[in-house]
Amino acid sequence: MPEERSPVLGVFDSGFGGLTVLRALLPRIAGAHYIYLGDTARLPYGAKSQATIARYAVESARFLEDHGAEYLIIACNTATALALDEIKAAVAIPVIGVIEPLVHAAQKRHPNSEVLVLATTATVQSHAYAKLSEAQGLRAMEKECPLLVPLVEEGWIDHPVTRDVLRIYLTEALAAGRPKAVLLGCTHYPLIAPEIEAMLRELGSNAEIIDSAQATAAEVERVVARQSPATQVPATFECFATDSVDKFERLGSLFLGRAIEHVHHLDLGG
Ligand code: DGL
Repeated sequence: MPEERSPVLGVFDSGFGGLTVLRALLPRIAGAHYIYLGDTARLPYGAKSQATIARYAVESARFLEDHGAEYLIIACNTATALALDEIKAAVAIPVIGVIEPLVHAAQKRHPNSEVLVLATTATVQSHAYAKLSEAQGLRAMEKECPLLVPLVEEGWIDHPVTRDVLRIYLTEALAAGRPKAVLLGCTHYPLIAPEIEAMLRELGSNAEIIDSAQATAAEVERVVARQSPATQVPATFECFATDSVDKFERLGSLFLGRAIEHVHHLDLGG
């Protein structure tokens, strides 16, 4: 019988948000070890140019590969939308982004329908979701929601300002169509999924919310299970951050849903 080996998976995000993807991954692949890198010193990516996002993301991807990652999960929607090809060209390990799994999940649940994608400015302007959706037979309306990342990072989850902002964004988005599903195309949005859902209902929409964390985790499980069967040992993780480790431990715990300790500091330059 071939010897079972625990896979090492690198998970990359511009900051804390990708911890929502790690959270979805941890219970899925027994025995896995995750190396999470949050490029907190250089976030947000969502307001930056393609060239800058690609440069940052490639540096982070190389760090994770050099640290022993055998698979790379780009947990950041913005980096997936704008730099997936560059990242794939820069490393020799399998790379899984968050956009394809989310669009596939939407197509499976609501074939050939209209969907609404909520995402950062850079992601929306790349039209990565719209292009992939169209290729899958979906019609995607895209809505940039730049204020949501700072509101979530401020901890303003169940907060009147966040509700007001959501009301404005979703009213504008729903004026353009009647989507069957709303795709959360940003790592931060799962934290306000109940608020997004409540606002959709208030505005008369029955659209189902689909988030990239669960869809991506399911895709990673499929890829990894096929190539390196895991033992039944619980998964482990370690985190690297390019800015304050204290802030990462504090804010990151919100996204991961459990305490994060002993974060390593990493300097990737400017
Ligand atoms: N992680 C980013 C995303 O999923 C959001 C935060 C940022 O703009 O860097 O698009």
